[in-house]
Amino acid sequence: MSEKQTENATLTENETTLTGTETTLAGNEDATRTYYESTDVDRFYDIVWGGEDIHTGIYEYDAEPVADASRRTVERLADRLAGRLSPGRTVLDLGSGYGGTARYLADRFGCDVVALNLSEAQNERHRAANAKRGLDHLIEVVTGSFHEVPYGEGHFDAVCSLEAFCHSGDRSRVLSEAARVLKPGGALAFTDIMAADDTPAEALRPVVSRLGVDALATPTFYLDQLAELGLAPVDFDDHTPHIARHYVRLTADTRAREADLRAAISPAYVDGLLANLPLWVDATGANRLRWGIFHGRRA
Ligand SMILES: C[S@@+](CC[C@H](N)C(=O)[O-])C[C@H]1O[C@@H](n2cnc3c(N)ncnc32)[C@H](O)[C@@H]1O
Repeated sequence: MSEKQTENATLTENETTLTGTETTLAGNEDATRTYYESTDVDRFYDIVWGGEDIHTGIYEYDAEPVADASRRTVERLADRLAGRLSPGRTVLDLGSGYGGTARYLADRFGCDVVALNLSEAQNERHRAANAKRGLDHLIEVVTGSFHEVPYGEGHFDAVCSLEAFCHSGDRSRVLSEAARVLKPGGALAFTDIMAADDTPAEALRPVVSRLGVDALATPTFYLDQLAELGLAPVDFDDHTPHIARHYVRLTADTRAREADLRAAISPAYVDGLLANLPLWVDATGANRLRWGIFHGRRA
């Protein structure tokens, strides 16, 4: 089953931009790179998200700090990989951001980590943080795209990703690359922001514009793709209530820190955020988004 057939709703309209020709994929990657390498985005993630993990959190209580809840997501995902990781084994993190996940995995399991990420600006910060934490001997930060993973078949004991596939213009290809580089018996675990299966994509288009894509995947799309790639068993821990909490929390934090943000970030970007974040809150309130952890094993 192709991504076109299963990914949510209006792909017919979006086919020219989302079906993965090399040209459109390069455009998709350029847009993502430009987004993450902008000073505004970098400072926003630093001021509001803590500059370590940049993904949805799993909250113990509504007012828990975003950074603490985001760290819990890494812990839960790592639990799914625990049987596969130990000193001498290697995990690949796709779309590794500032390296919060890579450092956690290296620290907890003593394993080697390859952190693949499009943004060289983020990668420079990532390498500096690894050196500061004394983990640089375990973590290799590689600049590249998860649409074309620069490793051979069966290279990794595990592959993971936190909230990066939402930026992709060809999610079938990303999953097939992830499965290709896994050793037989290797584990794949990832989180992503998705649309509910019955959400029309046009309902989310203003919401997801900040991600540089027109549509999100759905849980059914990912489960079908993983099964088609021969990963088994495959499961999805549905943590959707946390994405609602997360965007309420993020919106409140952004408003509370508006003065700090305006001092450090361009006014247009702050205005855009204050207009966009409530759309995420509305979308979660209307039950239009899904979020959770996928896990599968290469046979
Ligand atoms: C929301 S951030 C998540 C970062 C990190 N996984 C975390 O949880 O802290 C999304 C990340 O995906 C990366 N990314 C997006 N498209 C990519 C691609 N085609 N190849 C590699 N990385 C990509 C971005 O550079 C960014 O670091």
